[in-house]
Amino acid sequence: MKVLVLGSGAGGGFPQWNCNCALCGGLRRGTVNGRARTQSSIAVSSDGRDWVLLNASPDIAQQIRSHPALQACSAPDGPRRHTPIRAIVLMDAQIDHVTGLLSLREGPPLQLYATPCVFEDLTTGLPLLPVLQHYCGVQWHLLPVAGQQRQASFRVEGFASLRFTAVAIPGKAPPYSPHRHDPTVGDNIALHVEDLATGQRLFYAPGLGEVGDSELAWMREADCLMVDGTFWTEDEMLAAGLGTKRAAEMGHLPQSGSAHGDEGMIAALDRTDARRKVLIHINNSNPILDEHSAQRRELARHGIEVAYDGMEIEL
Ligand code: MLT
Ligand code: MN
Ligand code: ZN
Repeated sequence: MKVLVLGSGAGGGFPQWNCNCALCGGLRRGTVNGRARTQSSIAVSSDGRDWVLLNASPDIAQQIRSHPALQACSAPDGPRRHTPIRAIVLMDAQIDHVTGLLSLREGPPLQLYATPCVFEDLTTGLPLLPVLQHYCGVQWHLLPVAGQQRQASFRVEGFASLRFTAVAIPGKAPPYSPHRHDPTVGDNIALHVEDLATGQRLFYAPGLGEVGDSELAWMREADCLMVDGTFWTEDEMLAAGLGTKRAAEMGHLPQSGSAHGDEGMIAALDRTDARRKVLIHINNSNPILDEHSAQRRELARHGIEVAYDGMEIEL
């Protein structure tokens, strides 16, 4: 299985267009050692030819321009218009994970895999799907995440050797969702992807508010973890004067520990022995974006990597 990181930033990317915090401003001025990042999305493939997108970021056009593998094939006798992006799987209905769907409207009908409540949000609070019916059209593939059955396997058409499992995880529906304050199983999923030919397993969870026993069990099964790297501390946005929301309120587990003094993502990752432990969906307030920061060194001591746009992982 091939994994391509199209975007590794959280909502707003890095630097964020309207932000002049120490990190965003420092990156623009060249005084912070780091890389610019677009909003989070990855693509997976079993053969390097056809790709499944996991989330569709508002930066998708730029991401496709940066990655020849995702562009129209250039065979002279091939069709004039073509895309190797065969399907899209959504982890949630957040703006930074879904609005790229609009930029795919010139292509064939979208093969879209999502949970029932994500489909509901995308037909009500943020009605992208009814809008897209007037362009390319959307074929719905409902991911089974029902009641107490917290995970279920599914196949994506055209990818016979990949087995996907949607794992319901703690988190929140987006701020615009009609059920923002009424959490529903399926608002947020993680994806477990197994390559049936090699047995290699990826666990992808760009939004992960808690690592409980069941999340940890899934994480322990993976060879490669790509998990929520949004914040270093719970009150990072408040402390930097950038916002009023705490990490927990937004459904993100900070790396250094939770609000209640519980373990953070570093401690959770320490309990796994995956070959690759990678943070993704890094917010522009997170000090790990500075490659010379103490926080970055601490991650390195725990064998934790920080995803960057263009990162490729072969599993
Ligand atoms: C999140 O990850 O919490 C959201 O993407 C925040 C946002 O919508 O900007
Ligand atoms: Mn986000
Ligand atoms: Zn900033």
